[in-house]
This record gives sequence, C-alpha cells and structure tokens, in this order.
Amino acid sequence: MTTTYPIYLVGGSKGGVGKSLVALALADHLQRSDIPVTLVETDTSNPDVMKSVQDEMHCIAYDLDDADGWIGLVNTCDERRDAAIVVNTAARSQPGVARFGATLAGTLGDLQRELVVLWVINRQRDSLELLHAFSRTFPGAVTHVVRNGYFGPPEKFTLYRDSQLRRVVEAHGRSLDFPDLADRVADELRSQRLSIRRAAQAMHMGERAELLRWRSLCDTMFSKVIRTDGRV
Ligand SMILES: Nc1ncnc2c1ncn2[C@@H]1O[C@H](COP(=O)(O)OP(=O)(O)O)[C@@H](O)[C@H]1O
Ligand SMILES: [Mg+2]
Repeated sequence: MTTTYPIYLVGGSKGGVGKSLVALALADHLQRSDIPVTLVETDTSNPDVMKSVQDEMHCIAYDLDDADGWIGLVNTCDERRDAAIVVNTAARSQPGVARFGATLAGTLGDLQRELVVLWVINRQRDSLELLHAFSRTFPGAVTHVVRNGYFGPPEKFTLYRDSQLRRVVEAHGRSLDFPDLADRVADELRSQRLSIRRAAQAMHMGERAELLRWRSLCDTMFSKVIRTDGRV
C-alpha cells in the first residue's frame, strides 16, 4: 500500500466559475490537515492562486497549452512525492488537455498517484458539456462536481440535477456544494492576493468572522472527498 497523496485538479474550463477560489480553499484545507502541498499554477496569464500562496507553499507554474508544460507537471508529481499536488487550471486549457492530457494520464500508475478532479460548475449547460469532453482524456480519474454556491443554492442547479452526467459522476464521485463567501471578503482576498491563512490573520474582525464561517463550510465539503491519512 502506497502513501502517495493524490493530484487534485481543479477544473471547470470556463472562466469565472470559481476555480481559483476552490483551489485556494483546497490548498488551505490540505495545509491545515498537515499535508504538504505543491501548488501547480497553469493559468499563466493570470496566476492568481500562485500569487496568493507562494509565501506559504511550494509553487510552480506550467503552461498546459504545450507538451513541455505537461512534461514539467509529470516531473513535479514525480519529484514531489511527499506532497499533495493541487493544479489550478485556466479557462483556456481545454484544447491543451485534449491534446496532451494523455501525457499525465499515462503516468498515473508509475507515479502511484490518484487523479482527483474537482470540476467547478455554474448553472449553465456548457459547464457540463466541457466536463464530458474532459472525462474522455482521464477515464481513470475520480471526478467530483462542485456546484458553486456563488451562483445560487443547490436546488437551482436544475440542468445538472436532471442530467445523465450527474448519475455518471455520482457512480464514483460526489456532487459537492461550495459555500458562497460574502462579496466584500472575496473581493479583499482577491485584490490583496491573500491566502486564506493570511486573510484569517490580517482581516478586520467582521470580515474574519465571515471568512471563518465560510472556511468551516469548506472543511465540511472537502472532508467528504479528501482523505487526510494520505492513503490512495
Ligand atoms: N463561492 C464564492 N463566493 C464568493 N465569491 C466567489 C465564489 N466563487 C467565485 N467567486 C468570485 O467570482 C469571481 C471569479 O472567481 P474565480 O475563482 O477567479 O474563477 P475562475 O478561476 O474560475 O476564473 C471572483 O471575483 C471570485 O471572488
Ligand atoms: Mg482562475
């Protein structure tokens, strides 16, 4: 039995669905579970997650539009065997995933890593169509769909609820609900490029209270799918 931590890929393909915030929250969750984390930033035109966490964890940026980026990603997964890998993806990464994703998919066995996909959705149809395309590249991945509460409560995600895709996802993974964070706190996180940990120290008392409320809901969500004992 191996104790290598998984590769967590935060996807969603579309811009603005909340991938970066989910990646930030996940990095914070793993860190507070005493799991070493390497953050792989693949949104090279807007490396927002990397900028927020680079003082706190090992970070590296790769462009997944070309083969070199995928080679680098595989090598990082190999070299950082003691760490969980969190990959923050870019909206435009879909063609690169389709072309080169097999580079990573083919090495998961050798790496002794599980690929866990957290696919962030809003309430529109293309979020689901893009996941369908993505899954073809990584048939072995465990995929969880993250309904982002920023776009409304779970019952409003009717397209997803009624989809065949939900049944496919829930055969192996889960449908999760990512909590909505008050806009003024989310905006401060973003504009100050704060990690969640740093924000929990630096924010004013009211904002901090909201941040901690949200963080505890994030913990509840992640604990449904993330094992913190490192076993795969
Ligand atoms: N659950 C949420 N609560 C509060 N704000 C959110 C939430 N999800 C996304 N946002 C906001 O929506 C915007 C886009 O989110 P972001 O994580 O940058 O998306 P992506 O990385 O998919 O482009 C940001 O301003 C972010 O703060
Ligand atoms: Mg982003």
